[in-house]
Amino acid sequence: MKAASPAPVPALETLPSGLVNLADHEALARTRLDDGAWAYFSGGAGDEITMRANRDAWDTLQLLPRVLQPLAGGHTRIELLGRTLHHPLLVAPMAHQRMAHPDGEVATAHAAASQGAGLVLSTQASVPIETVAQAFGAYAERGPLWLQLYLQHDRGFTRELVGRAEQAGYEALVLTVDAPVNGVRDRERRAGFKLPPGVSAVNLSGLAPRATSPDAHFFERLSAHSATWDDVQWLQSITRLPVILKGVMHPQDARQAAALQLAALIVSNHGGRTLDTTPATAAVLPRMAQAVAGDLPLLVDGGIRRGTDVLKAVALGASAVLIGRPCLYGLANAGALGVAHVLRLLRDELEIAMALTGCATLDQARPDLLFS
Ligand code: GLV
Repeated sequence: MKAASPAPVPALETLPSGLVNLADHEALARTRLDDGAWAYFSGGAGDEITMRANRDAWDTLQLLPRVLQPLAGGHTRIELLGRTLHHPLLVAPMAHQRMAHPDGEVATAHAAASQGAGLVLSTQASVPIETVAQAFGAYAERGPLWLQLYLQHDRGFTRELVGRAEQAGYEALVLTVDAPVNGVRDRERRAGFKLPPGVSAVNLSGLAPRATSPDAHFFERLSAHSATWDDVQWLQSITRLPVILKGVMHPQDARQAAALQLAALIVSNHGGRTLDTTPATAAVLPRMAQAVAGDLPLLVDGGIRRGTDVLKAVALGASAVLIGRPCLYGLANAGALGVAHVLRLLRDELEIAMALTGCATLDQARPDLLFS
């Protein structure tokens, strides 16, 4: 195991004025990030149809409030994987956060933990996983800490990374299964995106390059090492941590995951960054909930920008939600304080949405809260 380098507490910055919602954070971040970073963080795959659909789907759903409901003693707490969480917000795994701010994932960890949110650290983080765990673990009220993984072609490497995660105190592994290859990223290519010097996937250093024959066909080269359900079982067999799948959209895959006793599923299309023209996550969530029939918890991400979106996700069957790009925008705008502000705004909005729909607790948010 690598020794954890001390996690410096990021200096608190000032929050720029005029930021009252997540869209404000996004607009300001556009002015603070360079064109390459903006293309990488904000862009989607292909024509970005899925990325837009994710947002539109939340907007299109309508809440049908109940009135005169007792709200005394109301709260946003949820139960997830054997823990009680203050609220259903987790930070989604996002790569290379030092490109948004020099404190990168350490700032995000302080922010999430201080807000009682969960954190899913990307395997492509720009800070060692141990440093992030140390920063996050310093807060008593913190949410869960999970590590996102891809199944690397080098299984020895994956095994070692899993061992490091267990040692460092990660509570679950999140296996991303919707990106055996990168999507077609027009915006990144147009902007000539390259990682800036000093930012790299430090937790993947030492990973041997994939061995493929130089004359293999394009598809063969890309997919020669892609993971299958057998590999998911292999991962389960080498760890004591619960395994969660991220990037599942098909009800048959949901049933297969339930049969393999995975701990949870994240209904996700990778924020529209992999396969374009898939449906919005909000659109498939009810079918996924029906498919798993309560056998395992569902989480969802993609385009969630308002507390009302969080409430809609819960009403459709999600136990919790992951927030991605807005956290990066907060990070670019004001480091840890910016990320904390984004999470706080969402949580406050969620509480207001619950009160205005007559939900004292989140288990009262059921499909009949939505107008159809
Ligand atoms: C990595 O997961 C990315 O979407 O760029």
